Amino acid sequence: MATEISTQPSLLPAAKSFVSRVRALFEKGLEEPQIWETACGYLRELLEDEELKAHTGTWPDSLSVEGKPGNLLFYEDPDYGFVLNALIKAPGLKTSVHDHGKSWTLYGVLEGAETVIRFERTDDGPKVPKTATVREAGTHEVFPGYIDFVPPWEIHQENNNEQRTIGFIVRSQRSGTFVQNRFDLETGAVSQYDGPVQIPYELN
Ligand SMILES: [Fe+2]
Repeated sequence: MATEISTQPSLLPAAKSFVSRVRALFEKGLEEPQIWETACGYLRELLEDEELKAHTGTWPDSLSVEGKPGNLLFYEDPDYGFVLNALIKAPGLKTSVHDHGKSWTLYGVLEGAETVIRFERTDDGPKVPKTATVREAGTHEVFPGYIDFVPPWEIHQENNNEQRTIGFIVRSQRSGTFVQNRFDLETGAVSQYDGPVQIPYELN
């Protein structure tokens, strides 16, 4: 039985249940690859929750803070560090070519649709390099109910279609607590950044 969370802000029942189930995976002592693959199934159920879908009506139309991308931050686990976020992208928005550093990400789509391009590195430099050789490795469409599974260091770019897109995101740790890479495909230069600005928001 998963432990109860008492010190955290209240969450919608379905989100609270998701958190308890993920905590139970940690409590079992599973490794992260298995935890996050299993959590994908839990997230798939959460994305179907009518209360969660209705809650998006209160979220802003797009999120950027002084030109930087922003995430709503609903929850941060006090013991295992994983977080629940949302990302709201304006129509036509295109991200940089980037990775999520050492973190795991489950990017669930609640509304909208976008194209995700994956890349791979063909050099054998360090994980956090100054330069890198990167080539395109595939493209896929994401849509409501889809969960894009992003393991550590996977390089990608999200291209929003002509409507807003809302992602409900589970990250293994809060953005800002690890380094991410941003790749310039023209020059091969790689820069590091802290990821999206975190904006605390109630999900209840
Ligand atoms: Fe990303």
